[in-house]
Amino acid sequence: MNRDGLFTAYRIQSVRIENQTTRTLVFDAPMADIQPGQYVMAWLPGIGEKPFSISGDAPLALTIADVGPTSHALTQLEVGDRVWVRGPLGRGFTLDSESCLLVGGGYGAAPLGLLAQRARAQGYEVKVALGARTDSDLLMCGSFTVMGCQVFYATEDGSTGIKGLVTDALAGICSDWQPGGIYACGPMGMLMAVAAFARERDLPAQLSFEALIRCGIGLCGSCELAESVCVELGISLGFLVCHDGPVVKL
Ligand SMILES: Cc1cc2nc3c(=O)[nH]c(=O)nc-3n(C[C@H](O)[C@H](O)[C@H](O)COP(=O)(O)OP(=O)(O)OC[C@H]3O[C@@H](n4cnc5c(N)ncnc54)[C@H](O)[C@@H]3O)c2cc1C
Ligand code: FES
Repeated sequence: MNRDGLFTAYRIQSVRIENQTTRTLVFDAPMADIQPGQYVMAWLPGIGEKPFSISGDAPLALTIADVGPTSHALTQLEVGDRVWVRGPLGRGFTLDSESCLLVGGGYGAAPLGLLAQRARAQGYEVKVALGARTDSDLLMCGSFTVMGCQVFYATEDGSTGIKGLVTDALAGICSDWQPGGIYACGPMGMLMAVAAFARERDLPAQLSFEALIRCGIGLCGSCELAESVCVELGISLGFLVCHDGPVVKL
């Protein structure tokens, strides 16, 4: 790894099938000094370069949903294939409370696994709410349980857990328990609902946003959060997801 913007070639050591569309690529070397929530730019020459949250650091792992050309090519790779990686990039989550509520939608679960691992290693209490369209889309459920986290589910079709969105589960989880902090990663609508929930209850929240990341180092401006989002969150305008985030601390 290097932090000077150059790529390092990592070789795939194993591939874990998470669900129908999602694979975790486990590489042959660690990435040092990772903050959960940070990301890397993963490049396949001739195909493309995209940001992916770091889902494991020792060794480096990326959890990738097949939704388009670059992610498709990455999820088709096999043991021994190489991926060019630069990072770690951005600002991740800071673990500053001893009771944590983690909220993940879709592949938003990926960086939360590493966060849960760090929190549990320090003896912190961790509850996790995971949401997806249906049972088979849920990600990494077993790994949170193995770490000693209490896991709650929400699926839009009601096939596992409560029927509805993951944010519908939050009031129930917090009815007899008050987390010291909420940590969330997922689609924009979910993050804004988590922000509103945290605001209502006066809870600190850290939200990991997605945006169109191109340079990854704060130069091109393509990843700027929309003004309306900054206003709603009460953060300064011009927030660059690649450099100031992806985690927004409220
Ligand atoms: C900070 C950050 C962290 C990220 N971490 C991860 C991660 O851990 N795992 C991961 O899989 N992706 C992650 N992404 C998304 C990833 O960078 C790509 O955007 C995604 O893989 C699609 O790229 P593509 O080139 O394959 O397809 P694109 O050409 O970019 O997209 C193809 C089509 O799919 C649609 N699309 C894009 N994303 C989704 C989606 N999530 N669900 C359904 N349709 C979609 C697009 O609108 C487009 O129509 C992250 C993005 C950011 C900014
Ligand atoms: S991706 Fe270029 S400034 Fe953020």
